[in-house]
Formats: sequence, C-alpha cells, structure tokens
Amino acid sequence: MTNDADKLYAMKKKRRHSAPSRFIAPSETVLGEDGTEIATKNAGDYHVPVMLKECCDWLVTDPDGTYIDGTLGGGGHSAEILRRLSPHGHLIAFDEDGEAIARARQRFADDVENPSPRMTLSHTSFSFACSIKRDGKPQAQDITGILLDLGVSSRQLDTGGIGLSYRVNSHLDMRFGSRDKPLASELIATTEQGQLEQILREFGEEPFAKVIARRIVDVRRLAPVMTTFDLRAIVEECVPPHLRQQALSRVFQAFRIAVNRELDVLEETLRGIVPRLQKGARIVVLTYHSLEDRVVKTVFNDLAKRSVPLDPTNPDDAEAAIKSTTKRIEPILNVLLKKPLAPSDEEIRINPRARSAKLRVAEKC
Ligand SMILES: C[S@@+](CC[C@H](N)C(=O)[O-])C[C@H]1O[C@@H](n2cnc3c(N)ncnc32)[C@H](O)[C@@H]1O
Repeated sequence: MTNDADKLYAMKKKRRHSAPSRFIAPSETVLGEDGTEIATKNAGDYHVPVMLKECCDWLVTDPDGTYIDGTLGGGGHSAEILRRLSPHGHLIAFDEDGEAIARARQRFADDVENPSPRMTLSHTSFSFACSIKRDGKPQAQDITGILLDLGVSSRQLDTGGIGLSYRVNSHLDMRFGSRDKPLASELIATTEQGQLEQILREFGEEPFAKVIARRIVDVRRLAPVMTTFDLRAIVEECVPPHLRQQALSRVFQAFRIAVNRELDVLEETLRGIVPRLQKGARIVVLTYHSLEDRVVKTVFNDLAKRSVPLDPTNPDDAEAAIKSTTKRIEPILNVLLKKPLAPSDEEIRINPRARSAKLRVAEKC
C-alpha cells in the first residue's frame, strides 16, 4: 500500500471506531396521493424498497391474480403487492438468500402459514420461476405479473456477511445462495490475468482494469487474496485517492456479477419465462447499473420485434431466405415504457441508494 493509502485507510478506520456503534435516524416517510408509501428512511431498516408505488402501480393489474416477486429481499415490494391483492390473489416470492426467506417467514406468517396461503416462499434463484409448479400444475401460464428488483439488499451490503462490501472486512465469498458457484476468492485465485481484466472491464466498466488485474496476479503469487480488505488494499494501491471509492464499488460489483453470472441469469430468465406467461402479464424490472439495464432493454426490444434475422442453419428459414434476410413473426411483448422511469428527487433525497435505479415495464401480447 502507498503512504497515501496507508494514511487514508488509518483515518477512515479511526473515524469508524470512534463513531457510535449504531445510529438510528428518526423515521421519515413520504406517502403518495393514494396513501402508498413512496419512501421511508430509517437506519434500522433491512432495505428501503425503491420506486415502490411505481413498481406496484405497473405490476398489479388484477387483485385476484398470481404474481412473482423474484427478489424478495426485505419484503418491501412483497408487502405492498400483498396489500393490493384480494384474499384470492397469490404471491410467489423468491430469494437465494436464506436469511431473507427466514425473515419473510416471520414477517408474512399470516399469509404464508394460512391454510389457504396468499404467499409462497421459494429459497432459490428466480431463474426457476418458469418451472414452478403448484398443486402439481405448471404455474407460469397463470402468472399475472413478475417483478425483479435486481442487485443486493442494504442488509447484504451493510452486514458484509458474504463479502459484497469493501467497507466491512470478511471472506471474499460473494455467492447469493447456491453452493455450486465458485467463491470470489477462488475466482480471483484461478483466473488468468487477461480474463481478470475482462471481468473488471466488462462487469465493472473499470478504467483501471488492466493495472488492477496485473496487481492481483502479482499479489496472489505471494499470498492468496482471501478477504474484502485484501482486495480493497490492491485497488487502493492502483487508483489515485480521489477515484478510489468509485473504483472499489466497480471492482466489487464486477466480481459479484461474475461469481453469480448475474447478467446471463437475468437474460436466460427473461427469455425463458416471457413466452410462457399469460396474455396481459406484466414484467416489471428495476435495475441499478447500465449493464443490467442494457440486458433488459435488449431482451424487451427483441421480444417486441415484428421481424427477426433468419437463421441459415434452421431448415424452416431456408425458403424464406431466398426472398429476404428477415422473417415476420408475431411479437410476444409490448414495451409499455419506451424510456425507463427514474426515482423522483424526493425519493433520492430520502434514500440515496435509489439514485441509479431505472424501471422498465413490458406486457405479454
Ligand atoms: C435489491 S434486493 C430486493 C429488495 C426488495 N425488493 C425489498 O423491497 O426489500 C435484491 C434481492 O434479490 C436477491 N437476488 C439476487 N439475485 C437473485 C436471484 N438470481 N434469484 C433470487 N434472488 C436473487 C438478493 O439476495 C436480494 O435479497
């Protein structure tokens, strides 16, 4: 570590230790015209749901319908969806994080434990949403709407448990759920320099990707990179002080995306589930960085197209290829928001973590 980095790190450490262990800010709630909570600030919160009113206004079109919350987290969106459902409505909520599921089991006990439950909890990836069955019947064709609020919850960041935050020292794990993914520390130990650089560039859009990748390889020859603070020290050595905080966020984001194959899982899930949904079903997706948003935009636009490029390896396309290079198909999605929605200034003031959110909505044709 450079002298500058040493000093900065020592200062931050001192500041952290001299602060009270937990600062509880007074709760501040903003309500919409119909009484829906727009944002609540309370430092004790697990996670403040983002664009709550907008998401639920677009998602819940039928109070008797069946909905999927693919990213349960602290259950903020799930609670609002349930509030809008009738006793006949149903919500199936997914999270790979066992703690989110355990907490929801308590929070929503009345709806989950009920003999005719309004809510089902699924401790697995939302990528299984297209294959869920209830009472032995495939569910996807009964789905009225699906919400994905991507990324991580504030609790996952703040507690540092699986090594997602550079602010808390812990093992570099970074896996949501499934144990068959590599740990981030394993990925860092075994990936060759060029690929490390590509991960940082592609999933972090990190300008110092080359230098950081080279430094990781140098450091790991001497000792394994096992903790969040090991990785943080490497980044701090490579990046000037005034750019460090953003670089740290981007580097941690890049490894998290790589470990969990987040962009592939998102694309596969959207492409897999949309054709199976019922007509009129809504797909509502909240993203927090341009890479995720690009995937959602591309998939939505592809599925909304009236013509697709011909595939020369597909015999069904061979005849049409004589006349044109594209064939006409029926679109299966209608993109309802041509441009994504962003949170209001008021919401960002109360919940700064909402600032990069973008909301996209489409409807099954
Ligand atoms: C931004 S939080 C959701 C917050 C939630 N909407 C709320 O109101 O509290 C994202 C959650 O999605 C979960 N998650 C991320 N990828 C997932 C996946 N592929 N399958 C299921 N859950 C996932 C994370 O564990 C995290 O709890």
